[in-house]
Amino acid sequence: MNLEDTMKVGFVGCGMMALRHLEAIKKMPDVIPASFCDVDLWKAEALGHEFDATVYSDVERMIDEENLDALYILVPAFAHGKAEKAAIAKWIPFFVEKPIGIDLDLCREIGDLVAKERLITSVGYHNRYRRTVQAAREIFSSDPPFLAYGGWVTGLLLPKDQIKTRGWGLQRQKTGGRLNETGGHTIDLLRYLMGEVLEVFAFAAPPRSFLSYVPDFYDLNDIELIGLRFESGALATVYVTVAANAGNGINLSIFSSTYAAHFTGWEHNLRLISAQPGKERKEQTLMAESPTWEDWDYWRTHNCLSLNEAKAGADVFFQEDRVFIDAVKSGNPGKILTTYPEALKTAEIILEIQRCADKNHGTLISFENRGR
Ligand SMILES: NC(=O)c1ccc[n+]([C@@H]2O[C@H](COP(=O)([O-])OP(=O)(O)OC[C@H]3O[C@@H](n4cnc5c(N)ncnc54)[C@H](O)[C@@H]3O)[C@@H](O)[C@H]2O)c1
Repeated sequence: MNLEDTMKVGFVGCGMMALRHLEAIKKMPDVIPASFCDVDLWKAEALGHEFDATVYSDVERMIDEENLDALYILVPAFAHGKAEKAAIAKWIPFFVEKPIGIDLDLCREIGDLVAKERLITSVGYHNRYRRTVQAAREIFSSDPPFLAYGGWVTGLLLPKDQIKTRGWGLQRQKTGGRLNETGGHTIDLLRYLMGEVLEVFAFAAPPRSFLSYVPDFYDLNDIELIGLRFESGALATVYVTVAANAGNGINLSIFSSTYAAHFTGWEHNLRLISAQPGKERKEQTLMAESPTWEDWDYWRTHNCLSLNEAKAGADVFFQEDRVFIDAVKSGNPGKILTTYPEALKTAEIILEIQRCADKNHGTLISFENRGR
């Protein structure tokens, strides 16, 4: 396929994240949303009507009957497997939202198939594409970070009117736990910025220890606290709770001997501080979603980013989708920052942490011999 060719894309799962990715894809004249599939057919029909596309309630039928160039898999964590396997069988490159699943054996099976078939894949750990994260990665590549703390300290995150339709997000069996569903972004970022994880431990406060007024089916741990030791010897702690209605949201602070990188909010805006003995302490703020020319001047003088990258950083979904689409067209996955096999490493850590949290006594689980 040539870069100027038009691509036909199918969507499995027509909920909130489908709308998010479609906002980006609508801005791409070379991509046609050609087909929609949802177990709730009416959701596929609504999007099918908007885009003059075909609709299905069964992904295997969609893949058999449509001539798709790529597939977006945007289903909840418990619903993975069928779409991925159908795409692999027809050698259709796919983008899949994080988390990639709740069943590690299934994720490993898909990861092996993807690797064997050399299929182009991308996973929605989109924070890797943020210019703030790229800037920190560049700085930490020559000044290794040794300590980090952060996490997701929030209330339930789900508006009351969505509790029925998107209530799966409050259930352990459907999400794989709160860390898998939300804080997994933080675990993935830590891997990206600090390297591979060697050992983890975790404690948890079980459902309703602190959180009341929740639906009957809520069974997430109220709090999870995780410790990680990296191959480099660096240490980090991550915490996740949905019991803090007045919590301070998403935060991550990472320290090396010269730099402190403080990420805040869903956007992962960055406050970067540098301090060296005998030198002036410097502090700069870089906004992830709305770059200014002042930001740009600072980062350019620190050789962090090119102008194109700084501009593209303004819309992270557009950025990750464009990279995936271009990879499919060119056949070159080099710019995809989280392929399926890469996301599998994050999933292995998260799902092991979850098992550890369930034991709730700080057992060490080592990744030393995992052979990947
Ligand atoms: N990257 C991010 O920051 C981010 C943000 C929010 C959600 N997500 C992830 O995206 C995924 C989807 O979340 P969402 O908010 O769109 O959920 P949603 O509930 O709004 O939509 C999911 C849709 O998938 C459909 N579905 C379920 N099982 C299916 C199946 N087997 N085949 C076809 N359709 C099926 C549901 O009917 C629903 O319409 C989740 O894994 C979530 O964790 C990622």
